[in-house]
Amino acid sequence: MNVYDSEQIAARLAALGYQQTGILEIADLVIVNTCTIRAKAEQKAFSFLGRLAGLKMKKPGLIIGVGGCVAQQEGAKILRRVPQVDLVFGTQAIDRLPLLIQKIGEKRCRIVDVALTEKSSPSNALTDRRLDGSVSTFVTIMRGCDNFCTYCVVPHVRGRETSRHPDRIMEEIRSLVLSGVKEVTLLGQNVNSYGKKEGLCSFPELLARVNSIEGLLRIRFTTSHPKDFGSDLINAFKTNEKVCNHIHLPVQSGSDRILKRMNRKYTRELYLDKITKLKDTCPGIAITSDIIVGFPGETEADFNETMDLMKTVQFDGLFAFVYSDRPNAPAVQFKNKISEEEKRKRLQTLLKLQENFTRMKNQALVGSVQPILIEGISKKQSSGNFNCPDPIVQWTGRTSTNKIVNFYGNDHPQCSADIFPGKTVRTHIEKAYAHSLWGKPVEVKSATGGLKGEESYAA
Ligand code: 5AD
Ligand code: SF4
Repeated sequence: MNVYDSEQIAARLAALGYQQTGILEIADLVIVNTCTIRAKAEQKAFSFLGRLAGLKMKKPGLIIGVGGCVAQQEGAKILRRVPQVDLVFGTQAIDRLPLLIQKIGEKRCRIVDVALTEKSSPSNALTDRRLDGSVSTFVTIMRGCDNFCTYCVVPHVRGRETSRHPDRIMEEIRSLVLSGVKEVTLLGQNVNSYGKKEGLCSFPELLARVNSIEGLLRIRFTTSHPKDFGSDLINAFKTNEKVCNHIHLPVQSGSDRILKRMNRKYTRELYLDKITKLKDTCPGIAITSDIIVGFPGETEADFNETMDLMKTVQFDGLFAFVYSDRPNAPAVQFKNKISEEEKRKRLQTLLKLQENFTRMKNQALVGSVQPILIEGISKKQSSGNFNCPDPIVQWTGRTSTNKIVNFYGNDHPQCSADIFPGKTVRTHIEKAYAHSLWGKPVEVKSATGGLKGEESYAA
């Protein structure tokens, strides 16, 4: 969501005449778009602000703005903590940013704008996104959250859940497709409740509409809340051919006692039941999840239930975090906090278990042929051949199940296909690594420039 917001910020600043630079030292204006979901994210934001403060000592004209969730949470405190900061703007102030920057430029004043309204409509002025030729991009469909999980800061810094009108979403995606985008990831804290409050269409209905956009090849979405994840969405995977075969369904814990204390509003059994239905309806679907270890009061037995759930589901990938207290989240007040040492230990145990499943799921694809949406060049490495100084170029793309596949491009003798970003190429998976796959495109260039599938390769 922050990546998307940063694009929005960049577009608004471009309208003021600013250009992006990759060199911090030459910037006239630096906007730090912050995240406060976990304590570590907030620490990172402040340590980067410390670095910027040093820069401003050498370059007093530099304007420093802090946006995003830390800005929303801390407000004017940031001005006191980092005197070099000129502007603090909250999660709903992006549309006002050009005015704020202009004011600072003219008056050299310091501004805090962190107003959070109950009914904010996510910005709709989206025609000017700078995409630099990206094949895949994010599209926010809703903002905020009404779920109030007890560990979570989001409802406090992003405000109440608000959905964008489907017509605006369609307009945005159509314009993205015109600029070369082939894959969109629809974003919301809980996409399953899209449109409900406003009486717009349902999320599966939105998926069907997006699916009809000509030129768009793939649709992803995140995040789904298990309590609202129903059979209509499970069926949407089947009925919409562009919806990718992957779901991110955060479980957070495998213990009913902890799920209740987290206010997640589902049980372990309900979650597992939904997973079974999903696997039955969509064979081969990749399932990923989020888990928090060391939630206050989590016993060894609770933790083992989480490990047990992982063994039952066998996730394709997992984001695991140690619990951290967040301001205004109710769990701050919960007793029986787990020591940092114990939390780290549990995280390591859990990650070790997951490693086996990730590797196993990757290994299972070796020998198969997968359609890969080519994203671009992943890296250039020296060919190691002095007679041939050109670097070897590796390309990268993803399977529908969201697994990264790297391969040689058409300048390499081993590749006979036409390779370019945005193309879907059938790829024979040759090797599995811990976090990626290695493959070989199996299409051959025809004399006329068209492509012919090399069926003999198919597993
Ligand atoms: N501590 C640790 N992890 C957290 N998450 C959210 N809040 C916290 C917290 N206070 C994790 C959840 C969520 C993901 C985005 O971040 O797993 O799904
Ligand atoms: Fe946070 Fe829960 Fe909302 Fe997700 S659903 S953003 S974890 S409050």
